Amino acid sequence: MRKIMIAGNWKMNHTIKDTKDFFQHFFPEKGSAELVFCVPFTDLPILPQLVKGTDIHWGAENVYPEEKGAFTGEISPGMLTELGCSYVICGHSERRQILGESNAFISKKINAVFAAGMTPILCVGEGQKERQNNQTEEFLKEELDSSLKDLTAEQIGQLVIAYEPIWAIGSGQAATPEIAEGAIRFIRQTAEQYGGTEAADSMRILYGGSVKSANIESFLQEKNIDGALIGGASLHPAEMADIYKKACNI
Ligand code: PGA
Repeated sequence: MRKIMIAGNWKMNHTIKDTKDFFQHFFPEKGSAELVFCVPFTDLPILPQLVKGTDIHWGAENVYPEEKGAFTGEISPGMLTELGCSYVICGHSERRQILGESNAFISKKINAVFAAGMTPILCVGEGQKERQNNQTEEFLKEELDSSLKDLTAEQIGQLVIAYEPIWAIGSGQAATPEIAEGAIRFIRQTAEQYGGTEAADSMRILYGGSVKSANIESFLQEKNIDGALIGGASLHPAEMADIYKKACNI
């Protein structure tokens, strides 16, 4: 049984002050789904205190795949484990597009995150052009091949993948549950080719792109969708609590 995951991706939002304010107003009901917040590096030192006594996990939005050294401005996996991070988002489309991250670089990050004892949340997803040209699977396969080829079956089973079609991110135009399920089924089949049936069956695959409390249930009703990676809506405590509650009641 795969445990449902509801993960927030705050992106470059919420200062320390905003974060304290968020958790003063965030009252999720206790539930069976896993709740995770991936937040800016600057918020990580204060999170443990703010979520003390809850089951909330936290993580980073990025990492540099080296232990230490002359990498000005970068943050290592060990720096994140010291702050209690369980997860690291790798390969978000904003980093691929704005910062030019390649599949090969993202693959290095995934390996570094595993080596440090954390779990990567690998983001994949096609743009509008690929979708229109019927090249979605081809595009996803290229992103997946590069990241999965170096992993053991056990790591594939632990990996979290977020299917985030670029056209659905921050647009208010979420994919339909059918489109998301189709792509996620394809991702699971691809994972099976690399890690075998058991690994593919235990790997959690999330949908991301304009998820909110009004549509979360429609995604979670699909067989292969194990949760959501949520940007904009995760910044609002009442909305995020509502999403989490609905996810737990599925
Ligand atoms: P969104 O972002 O929920 O604001 O569409 C999702 C993401 O980029 O992870």
